[in-house]
Amino acid sequence: MADAPLDYVSDHLDAFDADLSDFLRIPSISADPAYAADVRRAADWLADHLSQIGFPTVEVRETGGHPVVFAEDRSAGADKPTVLVYGHYDVQPPDPLDLWTSPPFEPVVRDGQLYARGSADDKGQVMMHVKAAEAFYKTGTPLPVNLKLIIEGEEEVGSHHLAPYVDAHQGELACDVIVISDTAMFDQGIPSITVGLRGLAYVQVNLTGPDRDLHSGVYGGGVENPANALAKLIADLHDADHRVTVEGFYDGVVPLKADERAAWAELPFDEAKWLGEIGLTVGKTEKGYTILEATTARPTLDVNGMGSGYQGEGSKTVLPSKAFAKISCRLVPGQDPKDIAQKLRRHFETHLPDTMTMDFVELHGGQPVLMDTDQPAMTAAMDALRETYGRDAYFMREGGSIPVVADLKRILGVDALLLGFGLTADAIHSPDEHFGLDRYHEGIATVVRFWGNYGA
Ligand code: BES
Ligand code: ZN
Repeated sequence: MADAPLDYVSDHLDAFDADLSDFLRIPSISADPAYAADVRRAADWLADHLSQIGFPTVEVRETGGHPVVFAEDRSAGADKPTVLVYGHYDVQPPDPLDLWTSPPFEPVVRDGQLYARGSADDKGQVMMHVKAAEAFYKTGTPLPVNLKLIIEGEEEVGSHHLAPYVDAHQGELACDVIVISDTAMFDQGIPSITVGLRGLAYVQVNLTGPDRDLHSGVYGGGVENPANALAKLIADLHDADHRVTVEGFYDGVVPLKADERAAWAELPFDEAKWLGEIGLTVGKTEKGYTILEATTARPTLDVNGMGSGYQGEGSKTVLPSKAFAKISCRLVPGQDPKDIAQKLRRHFETHLPDTMTMDFVELHGGQPVLMDTDQPAMTAAMDALRETYGRDAYFMREGGSIPVVADLKRILGVDALLLGFGLTADAIHSPDEHFGLDRYHEGIATVVRFWGNYGA
């Protein structure tokens, strides 16, 4: 039934690549207020593009933060299911720029990979759904499902305005399934559906000792150094088994089931290859867990950034007044971001030396999620992946977070389907982010097939 759209896809791959490159040229960096106009430009570009390809309803909507792009087509009719596509058009800051082989907002293809910030996370994956719709419109093929798109501009900064927006637009966003392509597949040529994402609790600890930076010879030995104190506090956050020492951190964590662990052990996950891709030969996991388990299904605590004292060239004999650390915890089912942030606060308050003061800031959080593997959309997606790749897809969990998924599921009362085509090696959030054009094209064809299967 979807022959004409699939033929259209194979005949228009070069044009699809060019359109994605246009989208990628817009530096929609949500974290940096200096780029706010570019973030809006990306929303406008996407809305124009959706109108051009044939979406009957397209709007750029205000949220109080960066806008969302909303589009819908209900022409399939009330007897057909409705798919809500969620994605994001904002990107992470590209720094450090000198580590990019080519500039982050000048997309280029090398070895079949499209290099640009946002190529895999998430503009390339959003465009798979856009191009699938184009294939139906341009061939005059009726859409097999009703479609709604909500593409936001704040995912990379915590999606603060999206849950209230979805809450206020529940009726308009009503659907049978939420489909998201903002995750990875198991490996090149090995399809998978992501059935779990970790949550997040992100905090910042600011320590202040003396009221100004001091001469380390004149004062050293007489006062406690905030950098030394913070280093000790951080070092004590893990024990010898690499378990987090914060009191109550593991309370309620749902233990991994023996059959889940057995199924994951069967996956063709190569620890040496995974380590090699990031320049390592040895990993570090919580005792008793494999790298795959520890990175997808166990909670973690990591310093994401820290600073104190002299950072310039050469040496400066200074005893710093302040030290800070940004700390994120990835959370699993049974943990709650607010509760974990409170436990971290209590931990730091308890262990803070009486020689300094602390300002503890809760930056953002998101709930962990698990998806139901029995829903009809899963079956339709498994079939579509089999048609594209000629093999069965795996169910897997992933370690990243998409904070709004739990809110979308809760507010709209339906499950989510995470149909991702990234790879761990795509360097998302890193220099030289890239997306394989083969995966972009396979993703478009898979979405076409998924809609056909789900609407049949
Ligand atoms: N696409 C990622 C989430 C992701 C990455 C899922 C890898 C699965 C595997 C998303 O854009 C992202 O980076 N999310 C942030 C959320 C944070 C900024 C609140 C994350 O996970 O750090
Ligand atoms: Zn991201």
